[in-house]
Amino acid sequence: MTSSNDKGAQQPDGRPSHGASTSIKAIKAVRGTRDLLPDQTPLWNRVEATARAVFARYGFGEIRTPVFEATELFARGVGEETDIVSKEMFTWEDRARAASEKAQSLTLRPESTAGVVRAYIEHKMGETGALQKLYYIGPQFRRERPQKGRYRQFWQIGAEVIGPPSSGAESPVRDAEVLEMLDAYLAELGVRGYRLELNSVGSAEDRALYNKALREALAPVKDKLCADNQRRAETNPLRVLDSKDEQDQEIINALPKIADFLSEESREHFAQVRAALDACGVKYHLNPRLVRGLDYYTRTTFEFTVDTGLGTQNALLGGGRYDGLSEMLGGPKAPGIGFAIGEDRLILVLQEQTRLDAETSGVPPSEEKLDVYVAPLGAAQNAAALALARELRCEGLSVEVGDGAFKLRKSFDIADKIARAIVLLGEDEVASGVLTVKTFASGEQVKVPRAELTGHLRSC
Ligand code: HAM
Repeated sequence: MTSSNDKGAQQPDGRPSHGASTSIKAIKAVRGTRDLLPDQTPLWNRVEATARAVFARYGFGEIRTPVFEATELFARGVGEETDIVSKEMFTWEDRARAASEKAQSLTLRPESTAGVVRAYIEHKMGETGALQKLYYIGPQFRRERPQKGRYRQFWQIGAEVIGPPSSGAESPVRDAEVLEMLDAYLAELGVRGYRLELNSVGSAEDRALYNKALREALAPVKDKLCADNQRRAETNPLRVLDSKDEQDQEIINALPKIADFLSEESREHFAQVRAALDACGVKYHLNPRLVRGLDYYTRTTFEFTVDTGLGTQNALLGGGRYDGLSEMLGGPKAPGIGFAIGEDRLILVLQEQTRLDAETSGVPPSEEKLDVYVAPLGAAQNAAALALARELRCEGLSVEVGDGAFKLRKSFDIADKIARAIVLLGEDEVASGVLTVKTFASGEQVKVPRAELTGHLRSC
């Protein structure tokens, strides 16, 4: 809002003076991106810390790859015809800044598997002969239409198991282990009602046969499909299978099933994955239409879905095997399997669960509070309050310090909101070393000598 007084609130260089309301438009976060504020980040940190702890138990180490890569990496790895590469990437021509540099096309990573496999090749990780178990946590970028659970900058927690064939990277044990780890992780976080959808899309050869059959089956009915599916039927018929278009479902259900095109080897591999899951007691639902939106998948593909909190974006995570990806990127034979969890979606699910639990029990979710609020009773005690806070923090307590300018009522109000207890520091307290402490939960107010203060605050 502009008022006639606003002009007077500007500095000589035209910048607004502090606190002035001005006609200058405030800049907002870009559509599809968001700020995570301190009332949200504790849950994000818990989700990430639990991932690190669980993945470490399975022998995974962290890898951090750049957030931008050569565009060609995604074109070759993820596939030119996929939605991601054909319309969702943030790509720019990066001009050369010196004669020794070449201009090149760069892209903010829309996913991390291609970058991790690039790093595997670049650092010759296969030459150790060992199986590599790598995990990552970081932002990804896709220019999708933003909605609940779908952002243009979003976070993934992912992992990849990759190695030369001699390392056992191709073994169905690896597929089952990754799925069992995800089940353990979600259970440890307390996620309820998730469902593992499982399929095998076969080897590259099986898929080629299946694609041909799909094209043939789609040709006579193509005109009856929606515009999107007509395009997919031409460019990437597999993508027709995960279309949600209501009207097209009857045609899609009648299409040939991938299971009928699996070679003996692919069939056996999938049977062994399922047997290992059964042995571990991990439940799954076979979904022959689960083909996933990236081109690198072979054999096992999967998604975990949830009904709570995500609306139509109900895929909490997705992944699968990518046995030919390394070769597609110019590397050695290195079969692999991995997944990426949509961290934003996982957080939404956990928040919704907490809300439902509070609604059912009538008990509001408990808030994290600081151990103590130190309130100086006058400006003369400010320095002593800061010094006391410093000592308490060194002893491991979480502390906020007030301001001697605040009225006592105001100090109590703030303290009650953010801390479990308040310590009053007036002239007498500084002189005697005996402090007045009030604990909010019990309402108890007592005098405590400085030497006993930390112990008292810990116990209340
Ligand atoms: P993806 O299915 O494209 O797979 O993404 C994995 C998960 O990321 C999705 O299930 C979803 O939870 C989340 N996600 C995707 N797009 C968005 C978005 N715009 N906003 C919020 N969340 C989103 C991959 O990215 C593969 N790299 C997974 C993988 C790893 N496969 C093998 N290894």
